[in-house]
Amino acid sequence: MTIAMIASEANPLCKTGGLADVVWSLTKELKNLGQDCFVVLPFYKCIKETPTLLFKKLKSYDVYLSWRCQTADVFSCEVRGVTFYLIGNDYYFNREDLYGYADDGERFAFYCLAVRALFGQLDLPCDIIHVHDWQTGMIPVLIKEQSKDDPRFQHTKFVMTLHNEAFKGFLDRYFVNHFFGLDDSLFDSGAIRFDGMLSTLKAGIVYADKVVAVSPNHANELLQPGDSMRLDGVLALREGDFLGIVNGVDDDEFDPENDMFIAKNYGHRDFTEGKAQCKARLLSVCELKGDGPTFGLVSRLTYQKGVEMVLRIGDELVSKGARLVILGHGECEIEQGFEELHLRHPDRCLYYRGYNNQLAHDIYSGSDFFLMPSLFEPCGIGQMIAQRYGTLPIVREVGGLKDTVIGYDGKNEDTATGFSFTDYDFGRFRDSCLQALSLYSETKTFAKLVHNAMTVDHSWARSAMAYLGLYQSIL
Ligand code: GLC
Repeated sequence: MTIAMIASEANPLCKTGGLADVVWSLTKELKNLGQDCFVVLPFYKCIKETPTLLFKKLKSYDVYLSWRCQTADVFSCEVRGVTFYLIGNDYYFNREDLYGYADDGERFAFYCLAVRALFGQLDLPCDIIHVHDWQTGMIPVLIKEQSKDDPRFQHTKFVMTLHNEAFKGFLDRYFVNHFFGLDDSLFDSGAIRFDGMLSTLKAGIVYADKVVAVSPNHANELLQPGDSMRLDGVLALREGDFLGIVNGVDDDEFDPENDMFIAKNYGHRDFTEGKAQCKARLLSVCELKGDGPTFGLVSRLTYQKGVEMVLRIGDELVSKGARLVILGHGECEIEQGFEELHLRHPDRCLYYRGYNNQLAHDIYSGSDFFLMPSLFEPCGIGQMIAQRYGTLPIVREVGGLKDTVIGYDGKNEDTATGFSFTDYDFGRFRDSCLQALSLYSETKTFAKLVHNAMTVDHSWARSAMAYLGLYQSIL
């Protein structure tokens, strides 16, 4: 089976969030399962040639966005046996960032049109076209509406994975005809309309053969009014073709037994010494003092992640002897808040603005607790990585966090892998942090939970099998 993975970001070439991890890990795992899987990406400025990453120019062709003509320059490269096709166009993609521009709608309209043409231009097979999020949601629409007589696509099926439904791909209705060349009736009938706008996310949900949320619990949430980011109506129409498949952890990158970045490797049988050395290194690189537990956080700093509650509890945790290490960037006020927390407690709290892979590995391996009190979380990867490293997550029971962490309730030390609370409420979050602090001194139970967390199977192998089963069910 040939699977074309079409996304707006993917490791190891370009990443802003978990989407990039999922596209790469799932592709590798599908290849391990013997499938023919390749990835298509925009050729962003940040994707640079290196001695080990060589680009090959394959073709240039014209892409029409209604009357506008733009050229797609297609390159390919190989990473660990996976072929990437890169769609280049300087006007759209030769920019500093991946997203965040006023013309993002047009940029990804070009991308969708260029990807549709790519199959014919390169004569690529396509049993399954797997699209991700709003940026690629129009591909099933374009092919089903405009290329239905093309023999190439006669047996093609479409899968769409929703990673973050907060982003709906809202575009003016003008795009329907004047960029995509689609009939206005698709908008007027309501098929691809949402709140009076074209929504490329909704369009993908309506046109894909199967729609996937990134965890089963989040799939349920998305069917409930109130928790669904207002997608419950359209998803209810697709209920028979909608399911949740939980993401996994990339073993090649996050495995404490083989991780080259951490101070000492360790496994679930012998973690005490390894974690102690990793913690010593974390505290020394962050120049933190004291001997209480360490709370880590690695995240985009947005309201979605519940980080304002972490800001609120920072001083209290420090006053109780804890240390805090925060890594990430995002909304300006939150960044400033962490900066101020660091300035108030320079030897107890470190805030690193941006992303630093080495520090991320040090935090996962060297912390005792990992903070992830998200407001909503389709799946979340940090909490699974933390568990692999024996760092107990403190999470809100929402989305994939509920599927992947078993909260300690004082009695379930044989199964618990972290701490959890239900309502998005500072008091509840605080209770969980205090519970974690007090468990830290009960060394035996604490070690039991660490062991439990490290032995949970969060591997991609299982999830990739679920995706493969899904593809097979529609071919
Ligand atoms: C988004 C979601 C996150 C999910 C990731 C990968 O970043 O916010 O919960 O894990 O996509 O699917």
